[in-house]
Amino acid sequence: MINYKNLIKEAKYAMQFSYSPYSNFKVGACVLTKSNKTYIGANIENASYGATICAERVAIDNAIMNNDKEIICIAIMSSGNDFTFPCGICRQVMAEFSNNIEIVVAKNEEDYKIYNIQELLTHSFLSKDIK
Ligand code: THU
Repeated sequence: MINYKNLIKEAKYAMQFSYSPYSNFKVGACVLTKSNKTYIGANIENASYGATICAERVAIDNAIMNNDKEIICIAIMSSGNDFTFPCGICRQVMAEFSNNIEIVVAKNEEDYKIYNIQELLTHSFLSKDIK
């Protein structure tokens, strides 16, 4: 049973590391892997806006760099007032590592919604399609 509240708490913690001087929109994410480890990330912006990386991908890359690729869940929180859903690029990156990942979008530890990647990225293009 996944402890969603704990993942949300870690995503909130990660927000403090956001480097977002352009948007002033802080995002934090926390990945859970099958080995029951967690990895955090925050959005890192750039003066060349396109070089910005989202919190979700920072958290996922953090897990990958720890050789922990079996991602089962990711929680996302932001400084906005509403739920923050992952962008299209982040959905694609999530699907690369698990086509069954749970995505938790949270306003806080009590108010959150859970989705599956297949709902958020239908008819996805995956490694099996390059054969
Ligand atoms: N952002 C994320 O980090 N994750 C999302 O799911 C949506 C957008 C960041 C990118 C940029 O730094 C800021 O939010 C505004 O788009």
